[in-house]
Amino acid sequence: MSNFKDKVVYQIYPKSFKDSNNDGIGDLKGITSKLDYLKLLGIDYIWITPFFISPQNDNGYDITDYYHIDPIYGTMDDLDELIKEADNRNIGLMFDMVFNHTSTTHEWFQKALNGEQKYKNYYFFKKPVNGGMPTNWESKFGGPVWEYVEKFDEYYLHLFDKTQADLNWENPEVRAELAKILNFWIDKGVKGFRFDVINLISKNAFEDDNQGIGKKFYTDGNKVNQYLNELNNITFGKYNDMITVGEMSATTIENCVNYTYPGNHELDMTFNFHHLKVDYQNKEKWTVMDFDFQELKELFNNWQVGMQIGHGWNALFWNCHDQPRSLSRFGNDTKCHDESAKMLATAIHMQRGTPYIYQGEEIGMTNNYFTDIHQYRDVESINYYHILKNQGTNENDIHKILQAKSRDNARSPMQWNKDGGFSENTPWMEMNPNHTKINVENNLNNPNSIFHYYQNLIQLRKKYKVISEGSYIPMEKDHPYIYAYKRQYRGDELIVINNFYDVDTSIEIEYINDYKILTSNYDNHQLNKHLSIRPYETIVLYKSE
Ligand code: GLC
Ligand code: CA
Repeated sequence: MSNFKDKVVYQIYPKSFKDSNNDGIGDLKGITSKLDYLKLLGIDYIWITPFFISPQNDNGYDITDYYHIDPIYGTMDDLDELIKEADNRNIGLMFDMVFNHTSTTHEWFQKALNGEQKYKNYYFFKKPVNGGMPTNWESKFGGPVWEYVEKFDEYYLHLFDKTQADLNWENPEVRAELAKILNFWIDKGVKGFRFDVINLISKNAFEDDNQGIGKKFYTDGNKVNQYLNELNNITFGKYNDMITVGEMSATTIENCVNYTYPGNHELDMTFNFHHLKVDYQNKEKWTVMDFDFQELKELFNNWQVGMQIGHGWNALFWNCHDQPRSLSRFGNDTKCHDESAKMLATAIHMQRGTPYIYQGEEIGMTNNYFTDIHQYRDVESINYYHILKNQGTNENDIHKILQAKSRDNARSPMQWNKDGGFSENTPWMEMNPNHTKINVENNLNNPNSIFHYYQNLIQLRKKYKVISEGSYIPMEKDHPYIYAYKRQYRGDELIVINNFYDVDTSIEIEYINDYKILTSNYDNHQLNKHLSIRPYETIVLYKSE
């Protein structure tokens, strides 16, 4: 465990960050070439999504070999260089460990398919039940979770794509293999880990789900805590400068408290996704709906307060490689582009927890608004295109849904300058045409840019303990437009006010003259008790005893 409370993490999706050899695909050397940019932003850690050998069916979340780098991203020398150069700038690297499953091209799975019992026990192979699949569970990417292997007359389990076979953590040999991988990377100088869908690793029972798609049998299963504690003890927990975060699928506050309570020696912090489901109609992702603001506020307040009471710790984020761009989703990506980007940033960065910035967020990148299925690359998006088509949804409506929900909205190349600047070749995925205006160069040249606003938020976190350590107190729970909260630490206090709408509104602040403005996305404030708030305005008020 390191002191992570005043740290900020930047997430890189290497395929789309920077291409150094002009084959159209981002790579490790590309990342190294941009370290000064990240240093300027002020972040402490870089979480890089998987770049290990992989058939890339799920862009690297399907791993063939955890010890080697996929040649499309470079070589081990390139990685050593990246680690060294990052270290020179006091930036730590966090690697993404996909341990719930391997690719079916992994040596272990191949040996299993050859009938070696030792390796069949690394996975879940099950006999048919009543002549059919062992359970009625549905894969997260659509279709059943079971794939039939004729020569065994057995099915294997895959909660994700059929080329991502679930590992059997019940088997101590599997756990030993995974610990070995972590220790290998720790020895290489890696400073932290992000664990992919780590709350799915313990399967409680293989039974039909009569209410849902099977989640309750494998989410936050009985032994997740035990397995994480074991890994912690024999790997990262032995060092005092490592940082760890777990990606938690459909989890609860209670479980995340347990995963992150320091005395439990499991993880430093967790990602949960409840606040990113407030625009799901009837809990269905593949729908279009305006976000439910009251639900969003309630979720933030409940998680902030709940984790605080339990002494747990949240990873704070709006964006990642699996989510459409928050600016297009919760802000206004046209008329109030910069204002809403800055407001969204403040709403998250002033919360109690560790903020994560996803590449491009700091310059105001937006959704892609693709209009043709051939523009998409993501397996989930393409699967659901066909599922929706088979359900009879018309082409136009399908595109509206994909424009709002596809993971590819986050995965288009980083916009470095007016010509793109990502690659001199055709990129693996189209660049958003708005790169002519929305790009790093323009942001760096403009002192009022979103980039400089983020830079300031990071500096504030390092300067004010009330941001990194303070307690969280909800405010204005029923306000129709404003999400506000207080933070307190010793005698210091913050009031964070965020208008999520394109409207003029106001709130009442007692003793407003005791406060000064720490940051805002507007100038010319008049600090009256009856405080006027402009469209998408954010104001952080601060007082000290
Ligand atoms: C996580 C990853 C996602 C991947 C899935 C399966 O949710 O973030 O990109 O598709 O796990 O590994
Ligand atoms: Ca390349």
